This record gives sequence, structure tokens and C-alpha cells, in this order.
Amino acid sequence: MIPWDPWDSETAGSYDTPGAGMFAPELLRQTVDRLAGLAGDGPALEFAIGTGRVAIPLRDRGVPVAGIELSAAMIDQLRTKADETRIPVIAGDMATARAPGRFKLVYLVYNTLSNLLTQTEQVACFRNAARHLEAGGRFVIELWVPELRKLPPGQDAVVFGTEPGYIGLDTYDVLEQRVVSHHFRFGDDRQAALLRSAHRYVWPAELDLMGQLAGFALEERSADWTGTPFTGESRSHVSVYRLGDG
Ligand SMILES: C[S@@+](CC[C@H](N)C(=O)[O-])C[C@H]1O[C@@H](n2cnc3c(N)ncnc32)[C@H](O)[C@@H]1O
Repeated sequence: MIPWDPWDSETAGSYDTPGAGMFAPELLRQTVDRLAGLAGDGPALEFAIGTGRVAIPLRDRGVPVAGIELSAAMIDQLRTKADETRIPVIAGDMATARAPGRFKLVYLVYNTLSNLLTQTEQVACFRNAARHLEAGGRFVIELWVPELRKLPPGQDAVVFGTEPGYIGLDTYDVLEQRVVSHHFRFGDDRQAALLRSAHRYVWPAELDLMGQLAGFALEERSADWTGTPFTGESRSHVSVYRLGDG
């Protein structure tokens, strides 16, 4: 669908934006506060750990963290900040790869479940989370709510962000339940750079069913990391699933 790997060395090299965007200190503090509260003394496992945006500050809080990550370039970037004794990472697919040990918490943030492009892979990802957890352990997912209500009949694109020098546009395939996100960056001349990523979007109810298939029950859903109630207007959610006791 997209002819290049969106998580290559170019993306990895520009992913970290310390202090800004997804690296904004307040957002990271809220994220890590919530995850540390759920992990207790750990250990925790991050699926799709990327460059360690969340894992490193969580480790700095004293929670042992390991990761699974598909992109060698993203792991290389993480390794410029934390070595394998501090944050061990298994190179592999979060739907299938096995990290050694049992965890109190598995988490998958920043919409990354949607990088798995089929329902089968997404269900496998839930099952893989369950495989890594001790009884009663938790799987936390941060995911956006598909903006289907913005699609009138005959239209398949939604602008999700505009700012000087940037337009973000999602194109929907409602039959296949897919989205391609287009990020256009441009200056004052005629040139623009385009980054695209492909996703399978999931309504929260389908997510809960995937959880049930893997032995989880939804424990809590909020609109953000601080516990803001999730409503019909929420654009994103943080969902906490708890694995049965045995
Ligand atoms: C949006 S980034 C999130 C990284 C990190 N979790 C964060 O919050 O900054 C998505 C990450 O998912 C990884 N990824 C995509 N598909 C994956 C898969 N099937 N298994 C493991 N990692 C995957 C990408 O390589 C990339 O590092």
C-alpha cells in the first residue's frame, strides 16, 4: 500500500523532538505517572518501544522496562540513549515476538496498535500481550478514535491537523477499515515533503472484543492519561485491560 518503510533511519533520526510535540514534558509526565501507577514495581513491557520516548522516563522512575520493536533503525536510535542492560529490547513483531519473563504491565501507546493492518494481527497482539502478563496483569492501549463522523457520503478524506508549514490528511477506506495518514510539510517555495503511514482503525467496542478473545476485561477507559472521562466527543482514549486471575 505504501512503497517504503515508514520507520526507516530517516524517520528514526528525526523522531525525537525533546521538549516538543509527543515529547512535551507535561504529556510525558502524565503518561509516565499513569503507567508507573499501573506497573507498581514492575516489570513492564512496551510493545513497539520505538526510540524509548516513554520507556526511558518510565525506567528513570524505577520501573524495570523491556521492549519489543520491529524497526532496527528505531532500536538504534534508542541505543544512543539507553543500553541493553538498562532497557532490553527484542527485535520483532509485537503480534508474535516473545520477550523473556513475565510482566505486570504491557503497554502499547501512540496509536501503534493501528500499525497492524489486519484484524487477525491485532487480535494476535492482544493474545501476545496476555502471554507476557502474570495473572491479573494489565494491558494498556492508547489509540485514536476513528473520525468516521466527519465523513459525509462520497467523501473519503479528513483533515486532522493544520499549522503553518504543515497539513495532516487521513484518507479512509471504510470497506477495508484502513486509513492512510498523509503528513505534508512545506516552506514558502513550491516544494513539499510527504510522509505517509498506513493503519487499520478500530472502534473502541471492537477493541474490547479483541480483549475478551484474549482473556481480558476492560477495567477503565479515559480520554487521556489524566483520567478525563471518555465521551462521544473524545478523539482518543487510554484503555486499561485486566487479564483474568487464572
Ligand atoms: C508511533 S511510533 C511509537 C513509538 C513509541 N511507542 C512511542 O510512543 O514513541 C510506532 C512504532 O511502532 C513500531 N512498529 C510498527 N509496527 C510494529 C510491529 N508490528 N511490531 C513492533 N513494532 C512495530 C515502529 O517501528 C515504531 O517504532
